[in-house]
Amino acid sequence: MASLVQHLLARANRAHSVRSYNALVARFRRQYRGDYDMAMIASIGALSPIEFAQQGDGHVAVLRHHGLQDGMSVYDLGCGSGRTAMALQRSGWQGHYKGADIVKPLVNYLKSKCPGYDAVVHRKLTIAAPDESLDMVFHWSVFTHLYPEECFLYMEDTFRALKPGGRLVFSFLELEDAKHHGVFDSRIGRFRKHGWSDTLDVFLHRDWIAYWGQRIGFEDISFTDGTDGTHHPEFWQALAAMTKPGSS
Ligand SMILES: C[S@@+](CC[C@H](N)C(=O)[O-])C[C@H]1O[C@@H](n2cnc3c(N)ncnc32)[C@H](O)[C@@H]1O
Repeated sequence: MASLVQHLLARANRAHSVRSYNALVARFRRQYRGDYDMAMIASIGALSPIEFAQQGDGHVAVLRHHGLQDGMSVYDLGCGSGRTAMALQRSGWQGHYKGADIVKPLVNYLKSKCPGYDAVVHRKLTIAAPDESLDMVFHWSVFTHLYPEECFLYMEDTFRALKPGGRLVFSFLELEDAKHHGVFDSRIGRFRKHGWSDTLDVFLHRDWIAYWGQRIGFEDISFTDGTDGTHHPEFWQALAAMTKPGSS
């Protein structure tokens, strides 16, 4: 009996982001009943269709800065409702796109807007791609909702799936940036009032990310402040980038 309870607790915990994100998307679908586009836009944190498109264009500018070229195979972890996919499509980029997310309605929405793009529901902490098959793996505001250990496992499997010379680029929250304090403050408010929060918002440290990256085998690990608009529009979240050694 004890081991069954332990097993069920472990399963429930393992699925924390699946439960919380499915509940969040269901809430927005109720809130925007009759406006499915807005439900899908709000589900990934954008406030309007214009913001959704502008942010997507910013994502593409970040990818271009980090080496995105036509003909590449890219993987969008936690692709949501297709903010980046639609922007890639708008930009005229030609290549192989694969998105993965844990929420089926988000994946279906992306596929309806980007018919030539591949997207799957994938709920393991792995990259749904063969060894050394990807030129770039990217994710925006995904590690913000995962435990550090889950982030590490995703990074480890990203290394496996990247081609030699392939790049990993992702965004994260850090308390060193005063602009991220509002997220923490609202969590404190929720914990003070209710004793818990229905979603996880995680703040990472650059030295943890660098340590994980080095331990896994990545090189050329770099960071960009969320307020840095030198090479692309300011991202708001901080960015990490790293390379799998070798050349493709
Ligand atoms: C803030 S949204 C960002 C969506 C998308 N990356 C974008 O920028 O438009 C976070 C996304 O991460 C997904 N997600 C949450 N937990 C995840 C997990 N364990 N594995 C993969 N994706 C996850 C959510 O379903 C959601 O689509």
